[in-house]
Amino acid sequence: MSTTVIRGGLVITATEETRSDVLVDGERVVALAAHGSEPAQRWAESADRIVDAEEHYVIPGGVDAHTHMEMPFGGTFASDTFETGTRAAAWGGTTTIVDFAIQSIGRSLREGLDAWHAKADGQCAIDYGFHMILSDVDDSALKEMDALVGEGVTSFKMFMAYPGVFYSDDGRILRAMQQAASNGALPMMHAENGIAIDVLVQQALAAGRTDPRHHGRVRHPLLEAEATHRAIQLSRVAGAPLYVVHVSATEAVAEITRARDDGIAVFGETCPQYLFLTVDELARPDFEGAKFVCSTPLRPAEHQESLWRALRTDDLSVVSTDHCPFCFASQKELGRGDFSKIPNGMPGVENRVDLLHQAVVEGRISRRRWVELASTTPARMFGMHPRKGTIAPGADADVVVYDPRAEQVLSAETHHMNVDYNAYEGRRVTGRVRTVLSRGEVILDDGTYTGRAGRGRFVARGTCDYLG
Ligand code: URP
Ligand code: ZN
Ligand code: ZN
Ligand code: ZN
Repeated sequence: MSTTVIRGGLVITATEETRSDVLVDGERVVALAAHGSEPAQRWAESADRIVDAEEHYVIPGGVDAHTHMEMPFGGTFASDTFETGTRAAAWGGTTTIVDFAIQSIGRSLREGLDAWHAKADGQCAIDYGFHMILSDVDDSALKEMDALVGEGVTSFKMFMAYPGVFYSDDGRILRAMQQAASNGALPMMHAENGIAIDVLVQQALAAGRTDPRHHGRVRHPLLEAEATHRAIQLSRVAGAPLYVVHVSATEAVAEITRARDDGIAVFGETCPQYLFLTVDELARPDFEGAKFVCSTPLRPAEHQESLWRALRTDDLSVVSTDHCPFCFASQKELGRGDFSKIPNGMPGVENRVDLLHQAVVEGRISRRRWVELASTTPARMFGMHPRKGTIAPGADADVVVYDPRAEQVLSAETHHMNVDYNAYEGRRVTGRVRTVLSRGEVILDDGTYTGRAGRGRFVARGTCDYLG
């Protein structure tokens, strides 16, 4: 095995910041020692490779627990494949993704999961796991959930939105939650009242309101809050935990906060687009607003403060991207003249770690909270910790050497995502990924990418770390 020493950096985990050298042997971290200490000197003398981290942060690789590579949606597919999307993730300091395999209506979970393995296997540059989207909860799907948990697919997303596509009614949701209560899985919820939203969509279109702005108007914050409330109550009845994805509305945060204050195992996730962008983007001229169509939708600026506050108080615990890119020129175009046909989703897998670091620079969160939100908590939430999400003896050597002073401008000109726009185009941020190790292998260093498709491995996940 070959040894690497990551030397002289400030090692930041969710709980500590220390000036330490990190000894990596093969794929794992084996030890940390104070920089300049006698053991650290010895490691440096005998190491096969030294990664100089002076003046840099040394952080666990990002864990993006919500991506949709090649996801079918609205008659097209998300434009990043597992190959291009995981490469872009690596450029942005993310070393693990959890993507969503999809059960098609009338098909088994097994078929869906096999199809996603076939798409991802041999393609990924970084490690990857799967959640399973339940689109058709019936007796056999419920039984299959148990088998999937045994294979490391331990979380199941359901949709209260998108009737006729991914939508599950309350009865199906309750049954799946009951199953999760018995097999230890974590139910994930897209909480928007899709039945009511569809009425508002039809009314808007009938009145000739067809442009992207109306996407934001029909997906009312109260319909996010209502669904969040209902999902929480259903999970309580079932005795299951709940993870609410892509929370964007103040009123939905309030539902999660209240449940958590009552001691209920409810967790919330938000995404950079809700923290850094507002509904105003949907009003951009020349159909450019379509670039910002995602669900839940971008909200008015006042919602952002609630999200930041909830990230500080842990009422929201994870920041994932919901990376689901569609090219503006060829794919978002499908919804010109009918906003409801715009493929829903935005790119972001490459930008998350930097945007969250910008929040550190701006004093919104601490450095340790940055690491916790971007890496440690998602790893714990989805049963990958302590292998992922920390820098400690025994952990996979997924490590990012981060330059906290480098300046960069986010842009489609320079990003690596396979999509023709960047949602944060022109935004200046401080901080940049310099070096990325994935299981001990340097896959990115100083602007040179040396990763390759197929080196990433499937991660069979355990159950949620927060449930005892
Ligand atoms: O607009 C979004 N979020 N697209 C991806 C699918 C989902 O609901 O997460
Ligand atoms: Zn030094
Ligand atoms: Zn969703
Ligand atoms: Zn999603």
